[in-house]
Amino acid sequence: MNSKADNIVEILVTQEAVEKRVAELGEEITVAYRDRLPLLVGVLKGCTLFMSDLVKLIDTPLEMDFISLVSYGSMTRPSGAARITKDLDCVIEGRDVLLVEGIIDTGMTAGYLLRNLEARQPRSIRVCTLLDKPARRIVKIPIAYRGFEIPDRFVVGYGLDFRQIYRNLPYIGVLSDKITGLDRNAANRHSHRDSALTRRG
Ligand code: IMP
Ligand code: MG
Repeated sequence: MNSKADNIVEILVTQEAVEKRVAELGEEITVAYRDRLPLLVGVLKGCTLFMSDLVKLIDTPLEMDFISLVSYGSMTRPSGAARITKDLDCVIEGRDVLLVEGIIDTGMTAGYLLRNLEARQPRSIRVCTLLDKPARRIVKIPIAYRGFEIPDRFVVGYGLDFRQIYRNLPYIGVLSDKITGLDRNAANRHSHRDSALTRRG
């Protein structure tokens, strides 16, 4: 029988460590946004498990909304071009917005979103990400709330996927190179697994 943990070769952040860190972030955000009715904007779908745990640990009234985008390029060769496929339901002008991401890698997705959302004139906008993978950063992103800094590995779980699978792992794990096809030494060669249109999050 298949298990959801098949092909996970290493646990990078355990379930307990995730829970502890999310609680700490919740407390920090509570203090920073008390009485400001913040709008948490989750970037689908990578944000889902993180965001649902995080909001339970924020002890001030808040609103939630979600945005979804596709980006052009590939996992190993991002182009920076993106298109919103599901926009926010609400108007953010004058609001205190907190963008909630599962992971920031090159920074292109968050950079695109920050530019797009800033143009709508929120009162403030900050970034909260569970994972920060700075090794491949191309676009500088000011991260106000960071769960964990991780090395340059392809990770899955706690909302993060590989080809839409593995999101339901309760921890952050490293997937076998056999599955990702992401042999780092061959990363510049174009892999057929590495499609030209990447659904973000
Ligand atoms: P960026 O635009 O390069 O910062 O990439 C952000 C998006 O790429 C994330 O929202 C994820 O969808 C995806 N991504 C980057 N690194 C990983 C990873 O290690 N595991 C799963 N998804 C990733
Ligand atoms: Mg993904």
